[in-house]
Amino acid sequence: MRAFIRSTGSYLPERVVTNAELSRKVETSDEWIVQRTGIKERRIAAEGELTSHMATAAARMALENAKLTPADIDAIVVATTTPDDTFPAVAVKVQAALGMTHGFAFDVQAVCSGFVYALATASGIIANKGAKRILVIGAEKMSSIIDWNDRITCVLFGDGAGAVVLEATDDDSRGILTTHLHSDGRHRDLLYTNGGVASTGTAGKIQMQGREVFKHAVEALAQVVDEALAATGYKPEDISLLVPHQANLRIIEGTAKKLGMGMDKVVVTLDRHGNTSAASIPLALHEAVSGGRVKRGDLLLLEAMGGGFTWGSLLVRW
Ligand code: UT7
Repeated sequence: MRAFIRSTGSYLPERVVTNAELSRKVETSDEWIVQRTGIKERRIAAEGELTSHMATAAARMALENAKLTPADIDAIVVATTTPDDTFPAVAVKVQAALGMTHGFAFDVQAVCSGFVYALATASGIIANKGAKRILVIGAEKMSSIIDWNDRITCVLFGDGAGAVVLEATDDDSRGILTTHLHSDGRHRDLLYTNGGVASTGTAGKIQMQGREVFKHAVEALAQVVDEALAATGYKPEDISLLVPHQANLRIIEGTAKKLGMGMDKVVVTLDRHGNTSAASIPLALHEAVSGGRVKRGDLLLLEAMGGGFTWGSLLVRW
C-alpha cells in the first residue's frame, strides 16, 4: 500500500507586509532583503487569527478540491512550530472545527522541515494500513515568535497554511516513492527560540546565526537530494518539478543548479510569502498544482531544512 497526494489547498492571511513597510520599522531596505533573500513581501495573520484557523481553511480547500467531506478522512497530521496553545495539538482543533469526532489527530514539530516529516509520517501510517485518507497540513503563525525589532530575522518570515489529502492506493505507478529524514541536535544554538514551555514559560523569539545556517542548509539539502535519487535510481533530469522549502532564493537556486535544473522547473513563492516554515512546501505545492504546473506522471522532489537542525526530502510520482 502506498500514499499519493489526491488534492491540495492553501490559506494566506489577508494582510500583506512589504519590505518597504519593514524598512520603516528597522534598519533595513527593500534592496538588501531582495538581494540577500529574494523576499519582496509576506502575509501576516490578523490579531486573533490563529494557526488552527489557517490550518482549517487550507484543509477545507483540500477537501473541496478532492470532492471529499470530513467524514471521508481518517486522520489529521499538522506540522507546526507555532501552535495556538501548548496543548492540545493544532490537529485536534482542526478536527473539531471540521466537525470530526472519529479518527485521530496529532502535531509534528520539525520547524521548517515539518511538512516533509509530516508527509513521511502519514505515508508510513497509510503503508501500515493505519488509515486510508489523511489530511496533512503545514500551518504557521511565525509572526508570533518574531522579534519585530530584530532586523536579522523579522524580514524573513511569514504566516500561512497549506494542506494535502494523502490517500492509500495499490497503484504502483504513483505516490510517495521514498522519504529521507535527518536531524542533528548539536546545531541547536544556530537557530532556536529564546524561550519555551519548560524553560521560560513563554514562547520565546527566533534567534538565528544566518550565515552558519545557510552553509549547513546548502550541504544538508545536497545530501537529501542525492539520497532520494540514489534510493530510486532516478537521475536529476527525471525530475519534473522541484518544490523546495522557501527560506532563501540563493539556497533554492543552489539546489536547482546542483541538479542541473532550470528555474522554470522550480516552484518559487518566497517572493510573496517569505519563509512560512512548515507551511512553505504545501503552499508552494498548491500554487503549482492549481496553476496547472503538475500533471499525472510527473516526478516531484520536495526538500526542506530547518531548526534542530532537521532536514529531509521526498520523491513523489504524481
Ligand atoms: O528556514 C530555516 C532555515 N533558514 C535558512 O535557511 C536561513 C539561512 N540564512 C539566510 O538565508 C541568510 O544567511 C540571511 C538572509 C539570514 C542573511 O544573509 P547573509 O548574506 O548571510 O548576511 P549576513 O548574515 O552575513 O549579514 C551581512 C550583513 C551584516 O552586516 P555586517 O556585519 O556585514 O556589517 C548584517 O548585520 O548584513 C547585515 N544585515 C542586514 N542589513 C540590512 C542582517 N540583516 C539585515 C537586514 N537589513 N535585514
